[in-house]
Amino acid sequence: MRKTALITGASCGLGYEFSKIFASEGYHLVLVARSEGKLYIMKEKLEKAYGINVYVCAEDLSKENAAKRVWDYVQEKKITVDVLINDAGFGDFGKFASSDWEKQYSMLQVNIAALTQLTHLFLKPMIERRQGKILNLASIAAFMPGPMMSVYYATKAYVLSFTEALSVELRGTGVSVTALCPGPTNTGFAKSAELGKSRIFKAFEKTTARSIAEYGYEALMTKKVVAAPSRKNKLTLLAVRILPRAVVRRIVYMIQK
Ligand SMILES: NC(=O)c1ccc[n+]([C@@H]2O[C@H](COP(=O)([O-])OP(=O)(O)OC[C@H]3O[C@@H](n4cnc5c(N)ncnc54)[C@H](OP(=O)(O)O)[C@@H]3O)[C@@H](O)[C@H]2O)c1
Repeated sequence: MRKTALITGASCGLGYEFSKIFASEGYHLVLVARSEGKLYIMKEKLEKAYGINVYVCAEDLSKENAAKRVWDYVQEKKITVDVLINDAGFGDFGKFASSDWEKQYSMLQVNIAALTQLTHLFLKPMIERRQGKILNLASIAAFMPGPMMSVYYATKAYVLSFTEALSVELRGTGVSVTALCPGPTNTGFAKSAELGKSRIFKAFEKTTARSIAEYGYEALMTKKVVAAPSRKNKLTLLAVRILPRAVVRRIVYMIQK
């Protein structure tokens, strides 16, 4: 029997690539994002190309109870979710003091609250069936403080910490959880985070969304807990471990500002 993957942030970037990979592996899909039109175009293409069922659940995950509405949609359609990809997320570049509070609050809702509630809702039935896989999109940013993107880096540190802790609680349940931690990747992220003025996206070579999604798929299937693609990212992580924290935060500031 075909399995079903629910993918948030499916309308573009990494989520879009994950959707194509899962479709090509024969999974039915539940696609979640705000851009309903884009999701319906994907539905048409993917159903035709792979003979799968694609369900569209257009939701703004920054809104109150959005995760619960996604859950209710899935219950109403009597769908069993085997794989949950918590991909939806965004950043915001600039000093916290002069930032737009509404954007910061939405970021907390999408990157943290919705991801956590979706995990909470879908985890229990996975444990009951003794099978299931969850992938949470963290970032290389999860490993360090991020001056000029302070809230974003902190949200990703939350995702990493939450996922690692959960992975221990889930031992022996048949359910796995993976934190994917990419570095700069070529998607719509830079635009939505208004990273135009930051050096970070200019300083680092960007990876393609496809290669990160392929790496993430593999890490999920092999039940890796923390998955940091690329040798350059691994070197960054080594430097973060070795250098004093005060030096790390100043370096991140120098690169980002
Ligand atoms: N690109 C990078 O360099 C990079 C590096 C590390 C980690 N990441 C993480 O990877 C994930 C995917 O980002 P991406 O790079 O693929 O960026 P992207 O191209 O901007 O895609 C973001 C996705 O999230 C969805 N989304 C944003 N706000 C939402 C909301 N309020 N409600 C529902 N869906 C929402 C967007 O769909 P709609 O606009 O249609 O709602 C879109 O599908 C994020 O969690 C990001 O933090 C990215």
